[in-house]
This record gives sequence, C-alpha cells and structure tokens, in this order.
Amino acid sequence: MEKPLDLKNATNKQEKYEALLPQLKALVEGEADLIANLANLAAALKEAFGFFWVGFYLVKGDTLVLGPFQGPLACTRIKFGEGVCGISWKTQQTQLVPDVETFPGHIACNSASKSEIVVPVVRDGEVIMVLDIDSERLAQFDEIDQIFLEKLSVELLAKL
Ligand code: SME
Repeated sequence: MEKPLDLKNATNKQEKYEALLPQLKALVEGEADLIANLANLAAALKEAFGFFWVGFYLVKGDTLVLGPFQGPLACTRIKFGEGVCGISWKTQQTQLVPDVETFPGHIACNSASKSEIVVPVVRDGEVIMVLDIDSERLAQFDEIDQIFLEKLSVELLAKL
C-alpha cells in the first residue's frame, strides 16, 4: 500500500512544497511505468493543494495528447504553439497566467478555469510533456509555485 502524504507540519505553501517533493520522489521510486507514475503524481498534487485541475499532456508527434489528470474532463489534443500548453511547449518556458481571458489563444477546456500555470518537462533539449495546473480563482499561482514545479520538472518528471 502507498503511504499517505504527510504535510501536517507545513505551515505555508513553500513548506508544503518542500515537504512534498521528497514524498513525490519516493512515490515513483521502484516503478518504471510512466502512466502509473504520472497518475499518482497528479493525484498527489491534487490531494496536497486541492487544485481544480492538474494533469499532464504528453508530446506525440506534432500534438500534445492528454495524459493522466485529476479534475473535470479536458481537451484531448493541443497543437504545437496553441493555447497556454502549446506555447509552453514551443518556448520551453513556464507560462504563469493570472487571468486566462487575457492570454491570447488560451484554450478553455472548462469555463470555470480562471488562472493557470504550465511547466514544460525537457529531456535532452526537447519537451517531452507539460504539467498543467488550473484554478477556479484568478491569480492563484505565483513564483513559489513556479520555482517548486520547475524543480519537480527537472528533478523528477524529466527522469521518469
Ligand atoms: N487551458 C489549456 C488547455 C488545457 S486545460 O486547461 C486542461 C491551454 O490553453 O493550453
């Protein structure tokens, strides 16, 4: 049985992320299956922070294809350079979007989503997937989310 997440000593968001990272690493240790690991990582992020939508889009040819996620139904395919996810893929940069309505080309999979962060996962110079997190609140995400999620991307997701 998987151990439950232990974040009870964390008093703020940064501490929560710091406590979470080693637990996420432990969660995927010893399991080689990508989909199984992404599924548990999406569940762990949802459980830790209660995000509205958290999940992965995997690069397949010229398209991002929906992978494991937690939350409402989502768009299944996103083209290179389209939407927040496609721009993150194209630029290889995190996209921190405080108000999705002001982001040109934002793809609204769910009208309740108000702000978003998308972090690319780069291996050998190529984006292999993106981590996408959506919130029902405007400006939900800040530099703390960006710093930790980029650390997660480099130290864990890129090595899966
Ligand atoms: N809003 C994203 C699409 C994916 S959903 O938010 C789950 C985008 O513009 O790329």
